[in-house]
Amino acid sequence: MQAALKMLRLRSRITPLCLQSVRSASTAAASRNESFATLEDKDRNFFREVLGDSNVITDTDALQPLNEDWMGKYAGKSKLALRPKSTEQVSKVLAYCNDRRLAIVPQGGNTGLVGGSIPLFDEVILLTAGLNQVISFDAVSGTLVCQAGCILEHLDSQVSAQGFTMPLDLGAKGSCQIGGNVSTNAGGLRLLRYGSLHGSVLGIEAVLADGTVVDALQTLRKDNTGYDLKQLFIGSEGTLGVVTAVSLLCPPRSSSVHVCYLAVPDFATTQKVFVKARQRLGEILSAFEFFDQQALDLTLKHLEGIRNPLPDTQTPFYLVVETSGSNEEHDNEKLQSFLEEVMEEEMVLDGTIAQDSAQIAGIWGIREGISVALKHAGPVYKYDLSIPVAEMYDLVEETRQRMAHLPVEVVGYGHLGDGNLHLNVSCQKYDDEILRHIEPFVYEWTAARRGSISAEHGLGQMKAECIRYTKPQPVVDLMLQVKNTFDPNGILNPYKVLPQVMAVAQ
Ligand code: FAD
Ligand code: MLT
Ligand code: ZN
Repeated sequence: MQAALKMLRLRSRITPLCLQSVRSASTAAASRNESFATLEDKDRNFFREVLGDSNVITDTDALQPLNEDWMGKYAGKSKLALRPKSTEQVSKVLAYCNDRRLAIVPQGGNTGLVGGSIPLFDEVILLTAGLNQVISFDAVSGTLVCQAGCILEHLDSQVSAQGFTMPLDLGAKGSCQIGGNVSTNAGGLRLLRYGSLHGSVLGIEAVLADGTVVDALQTLRKDNTGYDLKQLFIGSEGTLGVVTAVSLLCPPRSSSVHVCYLAVPDFATTQKVFVKARQRLGEILSAFEFFDQQALDLTLKHLEGIRNPLPDTQTPFYLVVETSGSNEEHDNEKLQSFLEEVMEEEMVLDGTIAQDSAQIAGIWGIREGISVALKHAGPVYKYDLSIPVAEMYDLVEETRQRMAHLPVEVVGYGHLGDGNLHLNVSCQKYDDEILRHIEPFVYEWTAARRGSISAEHGLGQMKAECIRYTKPQPVVDLMLQVKNTFDPNGILNPYKVLPQVMAVAQ
C-alpha cells in the first residue's frame, strides 16, 4: 500500500475494521442545403445593432475553436458567432435569421461528443455563454432557476453552499453548460441515483426559430395542464428551439459519501456485484461504473497524476461503486456488509475504499479521465449504446476481434448501472477503412438486441442518418412533423439528429 494513497486495501477476506480535425465519414450531410441564405454585410450590421460589436465574432482566430469539437473530429466553416446576453436578444436574432433563412447552430460548452454543436458549413453559431445568471434558488424545495449558459460545476458549487447538489454530474462539468446538458439530455455518473433530466427538469424557457419565446419555466412539481412541451426540448439537441433558461430540482447533498474501487474477474461477475450492490446498499447506492483493463492501461499511460489504486492487480474489469447517504455509521455498516459478501463469494478479487475526499477524487479521476486519456491517445471513434447488460461486453469483444488486424485499441467502459456502454476505438488517424469495420456493424448489433444507438450523447451530426436503427419509421415521421411545426424553415441546427433526405423532403 502506498503511503500517499492511504486507502485501505481489501484482499480475499475483509475484517470489519478494514472496511472502512478530420470530418468523419458518417457525417450527416455531404452538401449544403441551398435553401439557406449566405451571410451579407447587412446581416452583420443588424447583429451588431442588437448585440453590440463585442458580441458579434467574425475574427478567424476567434472562430476557429468554435468551429471545432472537443475531440477534434468535426470541423465547421462558420464565419460568424453571436453571443446574446438575454432571452430578448436571442429572440431578435432568431426572428431575423428565420426571415432571412440563415441557419443557426446553438453552442453551449462545446463538450458534446457527436458533433451537434459544430456547424457543417457556414451556419451561424449562437453561443449561450452570455446567458450565465442564476435567477433564483429555493432552499426549501431545492429548486434552481438559472439561465442556460451557466456552467454545471459552478451551479453545483452554488447549490452546495446551501446543502444541495445538482442532479447530474459528468466529466465535462467544468465546461459544459446546463442548457447543453438539457438539450442533450445528458446522463452522467449519477443517473442511477437521481434519474434522467426528464424527471429533474421542472421548467424550460426556449426560443423558437421564429423568435417566439416559449415560457414554460415553471417551478412546480406537479402540473397536469395539457401537453408537457418542455419535455420536447430535453434531448432535442438544439433542433427545436434555443433553451434560454431552466428550472430544476436539486436533491439534498449527501453528508456521507463512500467510494470503493473493485477488481472483478469477468464481465458476468460485474453484474452479480451490481445485483448485490442494489440488494445490500439499497437507497444509498449512487453510482455503479465499470471499465476494462484496456481503458485503465490507456488512462494510466496518457494522464499524468493518475495513480493506480491497485498497482499489483491485473484483472479484466474494474468497478467504481459509490454510496451517498446521511448517516456515516449506517452507510458504513451497509457498505461493509456488501463488501464482505462480494469478497467472500469471490466476486471481487481485490479492492480499496477511499478514506478521504482526496482519495475519492483520485478514484473518480480514473473513471472520468478515460475520455481525456482517449483524446490524448489520438483520434477516437466513440459509440454510446444502451444494451441489455448481460450482452453489453460481447460487443466490445466482437469489435476487438473484427479489428484485430488493424492498428487500433478497442476499449469498453460506462455506466453499467444504467445499461450504458461506451465502446471506443482509438486509432492513429480517422480512416474510412477503420470506420468500415465499425459501422454499420455496431448499429446493427445494437438494433438486433433492441438497444439504442445513443444512450446519452445524442445523435448530433454523427448519427443523424442512423436513427432508424433505434426508432421505427412512423416514429421518425412523427419527429419530422414536430420539427416542421417548431421550425418550418429548418434553420435550427440543420443536418443534425434527423435524416437529411427526409427532413428536406418535408
Ligand atoms: P454543447 O456541446 O455545446 O452542445 C451539445 C448539443 O446541444 C448541440 O447539439 C447543441 O446545438 C445543443 N445545445 C447546446 N446548448 C443549447 C441550448 N442552450 N439550447 C439549445 N440547444 C443547445 N455526456 C453524458 O451524457 N454523460 C457523460 O458522462 C458525459 N461525460 C463527458 C465527459 C467528457 C470529458 C466530455 C468531453 C463530454 C462528456 N459528455 C457526457 C458529453 C457532453 O459533455 C454532454 O453532452 C453535455 O451535456 C454537453 O453540454 P455542452 O454545454 O457542452 O453542449
Ligand atoms: C463518460 O461516461 O465518460 C462519458 O459519457 C464520456 C465518454 O463516453 O467518453
Ligand atoms: Zn457516459
